[in-house]
Amino acid sequence: MTAGIYIETFGCQMNEADSRYLADRAEAAGYTIVDEPRAANVLVLNTCTVRDNAERRAYGRMQHFRALKVADPTVKLVVCGCLAEQDRDRMQTIAPHVDAVFGTSELARLGDALAAWRDGFDDAEYAQERALVAALGGRADGVQDAFSHLRSFVTVQRGCSYYCTFCIVPHVRGRFDHRPMADVLAEVRAAIGAGAREITLVGQTVNAYKEPSSGADFADLLEEVATLDGLERLTFVTSHPKDYTEKLARTMGSLEKLNPRFHLPVQSGSDPVLRRMNRKYTVGQYLEKVATFREYCPDWALTTDLITGFPGETEDDFELTLDLCRRVGFAQAFMFVYSPRRGTPAARWEQVPAGVGAERLRRLIAVVDGGMRPLHERKIGTTVRCLVQGPSRKDPAKIAAKTLDNVTVVAPMDGLPADRFAGSPWIDVVVERGFVWGCEGRISSWSPRFADAGEPLPAERSYDLVSLF
Ligand code: SAM
Ligand code: F3S
Repeated sequence: MTAGIYIETFGCQMNEADSRYLADRAEAAGYTIVDEPRAANVLVLNTCTVRDNAERRAYGRMQHFRALKVADPTVKLVVCGCLAEQDRDRMQTIAPHVDAVFGTSELARLGDALAAWRDGFDDAEYAQERALVAALGGRADGVQDAFSHLRSFVTVQRGCSYYCTFCIVPHVRGRFDHRPMADVLAEVRAAIGAGAREITLVGQTVNAYKEPSSGADFADLLEEVATLDGLERLTFVTSHPKDYTEKLARTMGSLEKLNPRFHLPVQSGSDPVLRRMNRKYTVGQYLEKVATFREYCPDWALTTDLITGFPGETEDDFELTLDLCRRVGFAQAFMFVYSPRRGTPAARWEQVPAGVGAERLRRLIAVVDGGMRPLHERKIGTTVRCLVQGPSRKDPAKIAAKTLDNVTVVAPMDGLPADRFAGSPWIDVVVERGFVWGCEGRISSWSPRFADAGEPLPAERSYDLVSLF
């Protein structure tokens, strides 16, 4: 008898990494990972609370899953992650059908609970009811498919000690807790052994990393990871400007296996706003960090996070943010309207009038998008090596992939079944068109390993013939 587990993930790469951990624990305990909630005996919602809409979506999914529990009362619904931590006490009142709530520090305990529940499921009894609710659906946020093993997120640090006045993370994930370097290296080795082609080191502020016993810093960690046998590509998120040192910039520029992209959230282009956000740097200091970065890492893509409508943000403050974006030329930006989070200082301050943040966000997006299209058009006529992600959501006849500098590229699969690309996941794409969202082109070759020379795709005809017999 098999037991199925469905894991749905909201939020940041920390949650992605935690979901991978849960998936591994569940598989070790004998579960099958399923990508349809109705096929599951255990439903896990790994939640986020960084903004209000993430919170609302999570509660919406809890309600959605209620019907599955009504159809089959043996199904267990588990909620973990940041919202579970924040709403631990009131979740049972808001969503009484939730069977268990595990906070951010209880991941291992949830893994134990999954193992303990494993033998309690009897599939046959409720299979029919489950079929009746086939209309309910939705895909897991990429916990497991033919391509997910190609990228691995390895946590180097939990929590954050910086207490930006808008941010819930230190409140729900606690202060910095850096993992021993040996553990990080062991996890990266295991991911490489399991077929990962790209390793992302994740943490809320990875560049504040301090090895608990030796005191080694993040640059030292990068150097160690970069020398591991079999490693193809390496990258990391997120960095804080305050901790960006010349040593780290130099190390980044010297490591060949590091992807040429760097995420350095700035949040605002106004000093008074940055001060109230408790960001610990000025615009001038941020620009100095950018200059150091560009000196050691020319031609890399620089990306950022921005917030509009923070309490007290004036039109002049906002104009400074627009100016900063034009000046720096970010390759991409994650842009958000400020969302008051319970328990954070800024939530208690006077808020900007309703609608102002959203209106500014639209103008900000226009400026950032306006800069992105030319960057993508510059790739036209070049051949870019990319790591596949899976069939394009918009056109399943095309494969979607990411360049080393994290630009989305789509190209026709030339009649090959999508899963074939999981075995030869590096594709060379001749870029033909550039858009705001990325590039389109045609595949000129593919290869199983990053270091391999590309080979032409097999002729599509042979696949038509195979399917005929
Ligand atoms: N550690 C990162 C840094 O150095 O800034 C940020 C991590 S935070 C979880 C991810 C992004 O979400 C932030 O950079 C910020 O832009 C955004 N964010 C966090 N709290 C927010 C809030 N209350 N409202 C809107 N955006 C928020
Ligand atoms: Fe949040 Fe600021 Fe830390 S954005 S995760 S408190 S650096």
